[in-house]
Amino acid sequence: MDSFYYRQGKLCCEELPLDKLADSVGTPCYVYSKGGLLGSYNELDSAFAGLDHMICFSVKSNSSLALLKLLGERGAGMDIVSSGELYRSLRAGVPAGSIVYSGVGKTDSDIRYALESGILCFNAESLPELEALDRVAGSLGKVAPVSLRINPDVASNTHEYTSTGRKETKFGIPFTAALDCYREIRSYRNLRVFGIDMHIGSQITELEPIVLATERLAELFLRLSEEGIRLEAVDIGGGLGIRYHDETPPSPAEYAKALVPVLKPLGCRLIIEPGRYISGQAGALLTRVIYFKETGVKNFAVVDAGMNDLIRPSLYNSYHRVLPVSEDNKGRAVSMDVVGPICESGDWLAKDRLLPPPEPGDLMAVLSAGAYGFTMSSNYNSRPRGAEVLVDGTGYRVIRRAETLEDLVRGEEL
Ligand code: LLP
Repeated sequence: MDSFYYRQGKLCCEELPLDKLADSVGTPCYVYSKGGLLGSYNELDSAFAGLDHMICFSVKSNSSLALLKLLGERGAGMDIVSSGELYRSLRAGVPAGSIVYSGVGKTDSDIRYALESGILCFNAESLPELEALDRVAGSLGKVAPVSLRINPDVASNTHEYTSTGRKETKFGIPFTAALDCYREIRSYRNLRVFGIDMHIGSQITELEPIVLATERLAELFLRLSEEGIRLEAVDIGGGLGIRYHDETPPSPAEYAKALVPVLKPLGCRLIIEPGRYISGQAGALLTRVIYFKETGVKNFAVVDAGMNDLIRPSLYNSYHRVLPVSEDNKGRAVSMDVVGPICESGDWLAKDRLLPPPEPGDLMAVLSAGAYGFTMSSNYNSRPRGAEVLVDGTGYRVIRRAETLEDLVRGEEL
């Protein structure tokens, strides 16, 4: 069931009416459903039940400590890309041994912190990174477990900024160079081959590119086996899309059904790194209308959340459903843009939507905002960010308090 739905004319998260929540925690605020988060995690987990698998939640999609803790307690590992995400994961109680470290630009200090913590593996993306891993591991008297992120040169039909599996991108080691690279790892004293990895993009709504890229990975896996290089794990990255508007992404069951036949014969552990699928639909951005502005050319609902709170529409032209929290004046819908208070024309959350003309003070919810919402927010225009709230049934908990004006200048000197 959806985590956000109308009951007696009021939009609720689980059993909690959002108007009540807004009155007590203020707006804008991010609202997450515990049931929604764990429900999508469980769906993926059961879809892959037939394989020895590990779900490493992509922390960049939502790095709230409380959410990481919930997922960690369910058995999720984490996919991280920075020392900050490692710190958050450890603070949330996730065992280091279930953390994989992705990213093209790990510094010596990132590598040191991860080695000292004892993470499961580094997903390495270049020869210079292998050198750095070997050098830093050597200086600590440790051996770094390494998977190579392969760039399979497969196009995924997603936004240019979130497509990462074509050879023109900065990501991964070219498919054609991969065998040599694995051979070379054997000459490093402080590296241990762990697995093979890919991540071809995000918000992927069709199976073909994922299956094709996984087949390429499997082909390499078998070639390596023939050479006596035995891998412990295949990591197929994240990327499974969700429905924001009218997309029809594959379900976890369809995703697994297409991939298991390719992966099962390899006889190793599968790692997946989903972010959006787990956190996306579990979150909404709750915002209050400041003014309804009619210019004669267009109508604007000016709300108290802006591109600093949710940048996806301005950055990727992304569609997020916007719903009035109260259904009172349904029926009289007019076309409007939902815009924030920031001084940029790109500061919009929704365009040309049919919504009831709001009164100042009315509430709106921007749906599917649990992934890449708060994590990509900023204080642009010196706007303190609102609270993050976790709903469980009829109850809720503020899991990050709203920022104050004082927070805005923390660490600064006159
Ligand atoms: N693994 C790696 C190595 C990644 O780079 C990513 C996302 C994921 C896993 C998780 O992908 P997901 O399952 O969430 O699609 N800000 C953009 C999305 C950027 C994704 C970056 N990498 C957005 O708002 O759409």
